[in-house]
Amino acid sequence: MTAASPPLLERYRDLIAGEGESFPISLGEGGTPLIRARRLGGEIGIEHLYLKFEGANPTGSFKDRGMVLAVNRALGAGALAVVCASTGNTSASAAAYAAAAGLPCHVILPAGKVARGKLAQALAAGARLIMVDGNFDAALTAVRRLGEEGLAVVVNSINPDRLTGQQTAAFEIVDALGTAPDALALPVGNAGNITAYWRGFRAYADAGRTPDGKLPRMLGFQAEGAAPIVRGEPIEAPETVATAIRIGNPASWQWAVEARDQSGGLIEAVSDEEILDAQRLIVRLEGVFCEPASAAGVAGVRRLAAERRIGPGETVVCVLTGHGLKDPDAVQAEEGSLTPIPPDLGAIRDAMQLYVRRE
Ligand code: F0G
Repeated sequence: MTAASPPLLERYRDLIAGEGESFPISLGEGGTPLIRARRLGGEIGIEHLYLKFEGANPTGSFKDRGMVLAVNRALGAGALAVVCASTGNTSASAAAYAAAAGLPCHVILPAGKVARGKLAQALAAGARLIMVDGNFDAALTAVRRLGEEGLAVVVNSINPDRLTGQQTAAFEIVDALGTAPDALALPVGNAGNITAYWRGFRAYADAGRTPDGKLPRMLGFQAEGAAPIVRGEPIEAPETVATAIRIGNPASWQWAVEARDQSGGLIEAVSDEEILDAQRLIVRLEGVFCEPASAAGVAGVRRLAAERRIGPGETVVCVLTGHGLKDPDAVQAEEGSLTPIPPDLGAIRDAMQLYVRRE
């Protein structure tokens, strides 16, 4: 976003805001790039493949689109504090927007399962971290109760403002392509984002802003060890390398199913190996570094294209929900590449040769 372009909530004001409503807080969210992925598309067999890089948001994930609306409204309503449960990104976003609003922010996190970058963001912004010996689902259950008790405004996606704000990503995709894509692929965790995209595409078409009124098929992907919607029952102990979507009982479950069925789409599972392979392919072929969970959409599309369940001529957008820097520990070093050698030309040249020979 350039300094001259209006903030996200102003750009789509007619579809979001109440009469005369003002939004004093903005960190420059939205306006993220839609990248034509020619090399990746060539590799997986889809000519018109695009990446919506949500890692380019101010705190490095799509959460900022909804958080900006939720925190502006919490501030306007005289909230004394905000609170959320999180696998990491929601807490990083909540901490930043709450800081900008001058509101205390409490974040409840599953101990030991939040990626290092996300933890650093919440700590740096002064959020009050509370680690629980349990998973995201347990933390969200507690947060619901805190919200009912009125101690703080809940800024998880059970707050409808979050999903309203997240619809803007669908608006941007239609604006950029001139219409909706044939299919939109994304990771599914708590299932808010797939719900928001579907509502966004529908709202834009209903408002006459999608010239031909087209709607995409929604393709959602869960991690195999955390795939309650695919299996049709909650998962007690979800497990995946993609910690952002390590969720066993999604809050927006029924709406995700609705998005899938109304759009003629699907929700399937991808393995941790497929997710990490896709993460590596995306950055090595396109230079776009996303976190593991974000690669689930590409992993799924790759499989669907191989099985000819997506046609080579279809226009497909994969949403990359968060930045790779959030989770540096998920990146594997090449063997030997981090072992120091003497700082002389001969040794360095030998080491370079080693790489060339390996490739
Ligand atoms: N991708 C990333 C990077 C995420 O952080 C999340 C969710 C998702 C995908 C899934 O989106 O929940 O709307 O289906 N992260 C939440 C959090 C749960 O606490 O940061 P969803």
